[in-house]
Amino acid sequence: MSRIVYVNGSYVPEEEAKISVFDRGFLFADGVYEVTSVLEGKLIDFPGHLARLRRSLAELALPSPATDAEIEAMHRELMARNGLTEGMIYMQVSRGAAERDFAYPDEPVPSLVAFTQAKAIAGSPAARTGIKVVTVPDIRWARRDIKTVQLLAPSMCKMMAKEAGADDAWMVEDGFVTEGTSNNAHIVRRDGTIVTRDLSHAILHGITRAAVLAFAREAQMRVEERPFTVEEARDAAEAFVTSASSFVTPVVAIDGQPVGDGRPGPVAARLREIYVAESLRRAS
Ligand code: PDD
Repeated sequence: MSRIVYVNGSYVPEEEAKISVFDRGFLFADGVYEVTSVLEGKLIDFPGHLARLRRSLAELALPSPATDAEIEAMHRELMARNGLTEGMIYMQVSRGAAERDFAYPDEPVPSLVAFTQAKAIAGSPAARTGIKVVTVPDIRWARRDIKTVQLLAPSMCKMMAKEAGADDAWMVEDGFVTEGTSNNAHIVRRDGTIVTRDLSHAILHGITRAAVLAFAREAQMRVEERPFTVEEARDAAEAFVTSASSFVTPVVAIDGQPVGDGRPGPVAARLREIYVAESLRRAS
């Protein structure tokens, strides 16, 4: 069934949605994006996604094509027009069409596109079974804190995982795990401490990560934000990933070795439960 998508001010059937071949998002990956989850017809963690969009735009000196209120209204319109109650909304801002030149155009006209993806995310099977990851070298650029659309490196890493019979890859740099291909990586030590990489240019500042860590601290769990090695992860009691599209999902194997007893653990399950309940309560 055809969706209605948003392109530069218009709501059109997806077959009719067009972007110029000169768009810098297409030619230079000169664009940023956000993925917001939708549950029970509500936008989850939306203020966080808007704030990160603003930050990504500012880091690239990319002018904003719309106000926060307009972007929110557009998300709600897309939900309504597509009858979306559960899934994701993808939104992308690129620097728009300009003569091909490495230098940014003087007066860019940014493009804004968005579309819905219906998906059962609350009851996803991976939340019950957990996922298997393999470790691969992190071959991405040095500004992973900016949520750009240049996703070929993580796509290659994901394919390496699939070829190895795993569900996803954890990327590793200088012996330390950075993050998953499209999620933040966390472990739970045997003493119950949650360990997750600290924020820097090395990882995306996950909106779900921030919320889950805040809920964990409120629930009196110990949290350490610092890099961890693959060895420490293999020796952990539990491991899990967080993202808008997976919420909190247990990791049950790393490089073919079981994590803990090889089954989804209680900390990840509890954090997922708290995250879904609390973020739904705050959403609208
Ligand atoms: N990815 N790290 C990377 C590299 C990501 O691409 C993502 C999100 C995250 C988690 O961020 P958040 O909790 O804000 O979703 C971490 C989205 C879901 C995607 O590309 O589809």
